[in-house]
Amino acid sequence: TSQLVVAGEKVFRKCKACHQIGEGAKNRSGPQLNAVFGRVMGSVDGFKYSDAFKAAQEEGRVWDDPAMAEFLARPKGFMKGTKMAFPGLKKEADIKAVAAYIKTFGE
Ligand code: HEM
Repeated sequence: TSQLVVAGEKVFRKCKACHQIGEGAKNRSGPQLNAVFGRVMGSVDGFKYSDAFKAAQEEGRVWDDPAMAEFLARPKGFMKGTKMAFPGLKKEADIKAVAAYIKTFGE
């Protein structure tokens, strides 16, 4: 496992209050995040998204690196109306690391 992924696992602790990832991950207050890269936004079965994410899903917007980086830096800036109550990650390095960690669960 790369250093980046190890660092990302640590950053992901901030996400775990609301998100699960990995085998058997379930939706909690946030959707499960397996294979989120390359997936259409707002498309996890059984999760009740905000209207903002529902609109993104209908438009077919896909999670790629730039979108995820912007979202994680400032969730409500990237996705006006999202109900993700997280202020964002301040450090660019943390965003890179957590993205690398998330990708180990599929992309
Ligand atoms: C949505 C990642 C922290 C609650 C999402 C999505 C991603 C994500 C990628 C969109 C998923 C999709 O399109 O299916 C992360 C990461 C976090 C984090 C990487 C940590 C750095 C949190 C925290 C909470 C939270 C701490 C709760 C306080 C939610 C909710 C949604 C969401 C409720 C759905 C948003 C909506 O429908 O508007 N998150 N999240 N997340 N997250 Fe997070």
